Amino acid sequence: MLARCVERLRAARKIAVLTGAGISTESGIPDFRSPNGLWQRREVRESITRSCFFHQPERFYRYFQELFLPWTDIEPNGAHRALAQLEQKYGKWVAVATQNIDGLHQAAGSSQVAELHGHLRTAACPDCGAVYDMAEVRQALDQKRTPACECGGVIKPDVVLFGDSLDPDTWVKAQVWMQQADLIFCIGTSLTVTPANTLIDRRRRDSALIIINLEPTAWDDDADFVFHEKAGELLPRLVGQLDGQFF
Ligand code: OAD
Repeated sequence: MLARCVERLRAARKIAVLTGAGISTESGIPDFRSPNGLWQRREVRESITRSCFFHQPERFYRYFQELFLPWTDIEPNGAHRALAQLEQKYGKWVAVATQNIDGLHQAAGSSQVAELHGHLRTAACPDCGAVYDMAEVRQALDQKRTPACECGGVIKPDVVLFGDSLDPDTWVKAQVWMQQADLIFCIGTSLTVTPANTLIDRRRRDSALIIINLEPTAWDDDADFVFHEKAGELLPRLVGQLDGQFF
């Protein structure tokens, strides 16, 4: 199956990728729904929400500081780097729609990334719109203060919480990428969260679908290739085989 998949990848001109937390576990970031995932802790699941941010910001920030802020110091792994290589070394058009907020695709060198659930670079005041670097949020939390805006509002990280809407421009961009691609990768995502999982159904009928995820997903039966393997091991092997052999 790997050899056929390599040939399909070699033939692809435009590649769209949907990634989730599973692509970053080999960098040391936990996913959400695996047995040791973040959402197994009910108090975490109930605290990282829009409602908790607005009604109990201290509680929200307690978990945000403990669990999410450390992700700004994490390095990409072989899976992120293999995707970046597809464009840098093999000249493919590659566009990545990610549900992750860790910024690891850009850190690995991918040039087109739509961060569906936001990112950890900035935060903003919901009351007046002022934008802050995440370093300012970190500084306030280190000093045991709730990050506050000059206007008096509580600063909110630019991440999409349960109850928030997706950024419309980012969402449209991701949909267009899916429609343009002749090959789609879904990597490290349980594909249980809407609307991100509906992106797959935007794909062209003649495109190939490759799923790389440790556990089965609801789209496995529709896919051309399914690998229940670690992305950080499989993707470098797959992309590495684009070397040689041809012409
Ligand atoms: P999930 O935790 O739901 O799914 C991660 C998937 O990655 C699981 O099915 C694992 O089997 C798989 N996995 C783990 N390690 C892997 C590895 N090394 N290689 C391949 N697969 C691996 O995470 P997401 O699908 O990203 O949203 O969850 C989507 C959204 O749910 C998140 O963005 C987050 C969450 O609620 C918000 O917080 C808004």
